[in-house]
Order: sequence, then C-alpha cells, then structure tokens
Amino acid sequence: MPEAATGAAAELPAEARERHAALAEQVEEHRTLYYAKSSPVVTDAEFDRLLRSLEALEDEYPALRTPDSPTQKVAGDYETDLAKVEHRERMLSLDNAFDEEELAAWAERVARDAGTPDFHFLCELKIDGLAVNLTYEKGRLVRAATRGDGRVGEDITPNVRTIRDIPERLSGDRIPELVEIRGEVFFPMDQFQQLNERRVAAGEQPYANPRNSASGSLRQKDPKVTATLPLHMVVHGIGARVGFDIDCLSHAYELLSEWGLPTARHNKVVDSLEGVRAFIAHYGENRHSMEHEIDGVVVKLDEIPLQGRLGSTARAPRWAIAWKYPPEEVNTKLVNIRVGVGRTGRVTPYAQVEPVQVAGSEVEFATLHNQDVVKAKGVLIGDTVVLRKAGDVIPEILGPVAELRDGTEQPFEMPAECPECGTPLKAMKEGDVDLRCPNARSCPAQLRERLFYLASRKSLDIENFGYVAAAALTKPLEPAEPPLKDESGLFSLTAEQLLPIRAYVLDQDSGLPKRDPKTGEDKIVSVFANQQGELKKNAAAMLVNIEAAKNSPLARILTGLSIRHVGPVAAEALARQFRSVDRIRAASEEELAATEGVGAIIAASLKQWFAEEWHEEILRAWAEAGVRLEDEGAGEDEGPRPLEGLTVVVTGTLENHTRDGAKEALQSLGAKVTGSVSKKTSFVVVGENPGSKYDKAMQLKVPVLDEGGFAVLLQEGPDAAREAAVPQEA
Ligand code: IVH
Repeated sequence: MPEAATGAAAELPAEARERHAALAEQVEEHRTLYYAKSSPVVTDAEFDRLLRSLEALEDEYPALRTPDSPTQKVAGDYETDLAKVEHRERMLSLDNAFDEEELAAWAERVARDAGTPDFHFLCELKIDGLAVNLTYEKGRLVRAATRGDGRVGEDITPNVRTIRDIPERLSGDRIPELVEIRGEVFFPMDQFQQLNERRVAAGEQPYANPRNSASGSLRQKDPKVTATLPLHMVVHGIGARVGFDIDCLSHAYELLSEWGLPTARHNKVVDSLEGVRAFIAHYGENRHSMEHEIDGVVVKLDEIPLQGRLGSTARAPRWAIAWKYPPEEVNTKLVNIRVGVGRTGRVTPYAQVEPVQVAGSEVEFATLHNQDVVKAKGVLIGDTVVLRKAGDVIPEILGPVAELRDGTEQPFEMPAECPECGTPLKAMKEGDVDLRCPNARSCPAQLRERLFYLASRKSLDIENFGYVAAAALTKPLEPAEPPLKDESGLFSLTAEQLLPIRAYVLDQDSGLPKRDPKTGEDKIVSVFANQQGELKKNAAAMLVNIEAAKNSPLARILTGLSIRHVGPVAAEALARQFRSVDRIRAASEEELAATEGVGAIIAASLKQWFAEEWHEEILRAWAEAGVRLEDEGAGEDEGPRPLEGLTVVVTGTLENHTRDGAKEALQSLGAKVTGSVSKKTSFVVVGENPGSKYDKAMQLKVPVLDEGGFAVLLQEGPDAAREAAVPQEA
C-alpha cells in the first residue's frame, strides 16, 4: 500500500469506518434490487447521492477505497437463475458530471491527455434501459448477455433473439471475424402503462417504471413471454473485435448501421465543448419527445486511438462522461386517493402524495384520470409510488414500488356520491367509465370552477378574484353561509358577506385541499378579513373589480356563463353577429348555426342552455345588478359594411396595426379574416417578413396590399385597394 494511504489509515476514525460500512451496505443492497431483481426501491437520483457520499468519504479517507468498495466495482454481480457468461472485453460503467464545472474539468483532462488538439466529441443520448452485450461471430449472433459485474454477465441469448431490432445475421460488406456490440435495451415509454395494465389483470405486480420493465422483460425465464413485449435496442459501443479496424466510433456506427444494427439517430460529432453544451441543451428541452426515457447525455472522445491513450479506471473509461439531467422521477408516499370535481361536473380521482420536489416544483397531487386508470396502474393507497414530472408536463404516477408493501395498503374505491355535494354520481355517457356530478347549479365544486373561469383572463378578467376566493364564496367553513349558491349573486356581493368567511386552501388543478406543512391537516385561512377584522386590501379590490366587470364586452360575459362549447372564440362570433343576449336567445337554432364561427353543435348547446330556468334567473339577477348584457350599438341599425363579402388574409408584421387590431378593423367593416390563402381570398395584407403566404398570393395572383394599400382598403374600399395593390407580373 502506498505510504500516503497507510498514513491516512492510521488516522482513520472509527466513525468514518462505520459510516463507510453502512453506506457501502446500502449501496450494495440497492444494486442487488436494481440489477438482480429489476425492482429498485429508491430512485436513480437517490442512489447517485448515496454513491457520491461514499466517494466523498473515500476522498477524505483514501484507505477506505479498497478494491471491494462499491465505488470500485461495476455493479451487477448477483446470483440469478440465468447462466453466467464471460465478456471478451470488460463492460464498463460511466463517470457522471452533474454540473458545468465537472464537465469542463473532464474536457480539460481529455484535451491534456489526448496530446493533440485534433480530436472530436461524440455526443449521444444516455438511454435509461438495460445494458446488453451481443457477440457476433462471422456475422452471426452467437450470444447475448447482460452487463453483470462488467466481466461476467447473464446469458439472455434466447430472450434477445426475440427483439426485432436485433439482427440474427449481419449483412453487407466488411463483416468481421468477431465483434461485441454494446447497447441499451429499452421498453417504449408510451406502451408502459398498457404493460402494467396487463400485468395487474394477470395478477402480477406492476413495474414502477419503464426501465424496470425492460430489465424484467429481458430476464424472463420464458423467451416466449419476452417475444410478446415491444422491446427495442440502441447500440452505443463496441467491445472486443477481430478483423475490424476503426478510426472513429462515429464511423464505426455508420458501418454498424449498414450491417443492420440499430444505431442511434440522434448522435452528433462536435469539435468543442460549446458544441457539447448545445447538444445537452437541445435534448434537455426535447427529452420527452423520445420514445425512450433519457436520463442524460454521454460525451465520448470519438477517435479510437486516443481513447486507448486515455484508458480506463477500474470502473469507467476516462474518455467518456455522462451528463445527468435533473431527475424527474421521485419516490413518494401515496397518502390518499381523493376525487376532484371539475367545471362540467366530471369527477376525477387524484393521488394525494407526501409533498415532494420534482423537476423544479413541489408536487402534492397527481391526476389518475378515472377509476380504470387507477386499477391499470396497480397503485394502492399507502404505496410508495414513482412520481414523474416531466418538465412543464403535469405530474404523473408511473407505478407502485410493490416490494415496499407491508400489507396495510388499501385499494381505491370510486365513491358513489359527489364528495362535495353528496349527489349520486352518473356516467358521463352510456357505458362510460368517467363519472359526473349531475348537480350543476349548486354543487359547490362546479360553481367554484365556473366562477374561477369567469374571473379568469379568458372571460371577465376580474383581478384579485382567484381560486381561493372562488372556493370561499361557494363553500366557506361553517357557520358562515355561502354567499353564492349559483352565479346570480355575483354582482351584488357585499363586504358584510365576505368578512366572516374562512375556507380551505384548495389546489387549483385538483380542487382538493392542500395540506398545512406544519400540522399535516388540511390548510384553512381567513380569506377576506385581516386580523383586525377589516376587509383585506385585495378583497376590497376584488369588489371594485367585480363592479367594473359589469361593463364588460358581451363576448366576455358570454364566455363567463360556461355554456358548453362556447369559449372565447365562439363568444366573439356570437357577440359580433347578435350584439345582445336577448337577440341570441331570440334567434332560431338555424340562425345560430348559420353564424360564421358558430355551427350546429354550439347552436344546440345554446338552445339547451337557455331552456334551463336557473340560467335565466342568473341573467335576470345580473341585469338587475346592472350588468350590461349587450354591446354598444345593439338594436340600432348596423353601421356601413363596405367590406361585406371580402375574405382577407393578414401576414407579417404591420407597423401601424397589431395583428388583432388589423383583424378587428377589417371585421368591423364586414370583411371575413382567414388564416390561409386560396383562390377565393380577396386580398392578402403583408407586413414585414411575410413568409410563405405572400408567395402563395403571388402564385395565385391574389391582390397583395402593403401597409399603404391596407389603409386604402379601410378608407376607400375594395375598388380603390385593387388599384393600390402591389403590381404582379402578367
Ligand atoms: S457508453 C465504456 N453510451 O449507461 C462506456 N452508455 O451509467 C460504456 N448507457 O453502462 C457505456 N446510454 O448501460 C454508453 N449512449 C450511451 C449510453 C450508455 C446508456 C448506459 C450503459 C452504461 C450506463 C452507465
């Protein structure tokens, strides 16, 4: 042993030794679960943290870094039923870079040790699957094995032969005497849920995530079972080879691909760290558009002779490094499954989990869609579950960590009654699994969701009227009475009604109460009154803003009524055509349907809405409170419509008009504005950087107006505008 190490050993405190032993045992235990059982109980990120702690401890006390330490071994040497096979060349693991600094330090070392400035980085995706080694002799697949401990793996030849991506025989030129092909087998993300569904139905335990399913599938005793699974492979390396000379890994991949092997489509050779960073950034943003999970990027020195010069440690090559993206999967406890009720009464089960940080935000709820999805995922209340939050995507429960069950877990049962108002639930449609609360008028949940929508930007845009206010107005804690039993009272709310209200703080997506982190109970607040018992500033502002909303344009009022299928766009079309609620009500279904931008479905829905007496009550109450249910000029004769019958397309950036402004100006004069140019288009108005619509107009010989020509159209009409159009070749 070198002197320095012996010296360090002499000072090695007992606690450090004990801590090392404990950490090493944990690491080994998790590795066994991961590699031998395909069923880890911690996430990859948690495991990485453990391993890092062990490494840090060994950095401090190098004597602890013995050859049998888990930091010095390629993991995977575990007893299984499968036969052992020795790899001709070792299968190594990878060192990780978790930040910019570590990446830059690696690149610097590479540049230094390569001994030449003439080298390239090969960037690849790091696929979260199962590493395999394929041995081809004279172009024939003779053996497939898992990585194992890097020297000896498990024989999975019959199983691998069932994977369609993997050729039994290589075809093409320059087939070598022998070659080991390394790669990753994965289970496609989008088919994972179905797999679990089938497993649960067959009484088997569901997998926690797609990686485990790949590994479990490949190590099936019966290859016939493997054959039924949609496994794929991506090649990411070459091991031993005879009669196969290569200069660069990237060139080798090209050849491999010609032989019929599934090489990666996303690889990229770059000549600087800048290029590496760009690759990392690009796939960081697009990591979810892949058919497999990726947990990072692998950067390799492309030149094979230089790889040899850099060599490897016991565990990993020095010529490659793995950049890990921030983890998007965490394990957490499924505390409960509760059902939320949406704006249309749809009832949705939600997982309420022990709050966790994942992908940059705290998650407490994850939708489970409906009772069938809960069953398909195989999760039980009380399970440890794998929760995934992919970037901006809504959080999702992947599956349970079934190994951690202790028998106290309970299956979820869909309630028969609305959890908010007690009304018996109904199927949305005949034979549908989705359930709905039929009490549309006064189910506090549905009313809360409608009010929240009505106050949102899309509709009346009432500032200071958020989700908590909507909840408090519809379902305050007793003994306060709810100020609103439907929308009628909204515009006559008073401060006196608001002051006594306390309510639960609800999660905006699920509608379920958030937990108070201090007490663990559902969180309650005084919503509108401060500690002195006076109206809070924002509550007073809310009342002022409600008052102001009485003068909103008709389209916004219509949107706020939550009439099925009538969103902001349809509401705009209705307002433009009819200009008042009274005229919409009076219109026949045919007239409504004939309106540009309305159509039969919306027309029918409007008729149904007006037929409901309580809806009319809302309108009466609003009118009484001073809400203007019509637009300026309604009932008067319409203004002149000199552009009636014209169809206009606006493209590019105009100097004096915004896109919407130009559109409104045209529509107010009777023109129809559309998005695509055809022979029927009357004019195309073009600003700066117009793009392909301009070319299309020229091609179809549709008159093109620049900003000057557009002004002529608005002021003098179509004939003058045709004169002012951009000249076109005859
Ligand atoms: S190269 C000698 N490239 O990640 C270099 N590995 O954490 C060995 N992996 O054991 C690996 N995608 O199973 C390489 N594009 C890629 C990879 C990749 C996934 C796996 C591989 C390796 C593990 C290390």
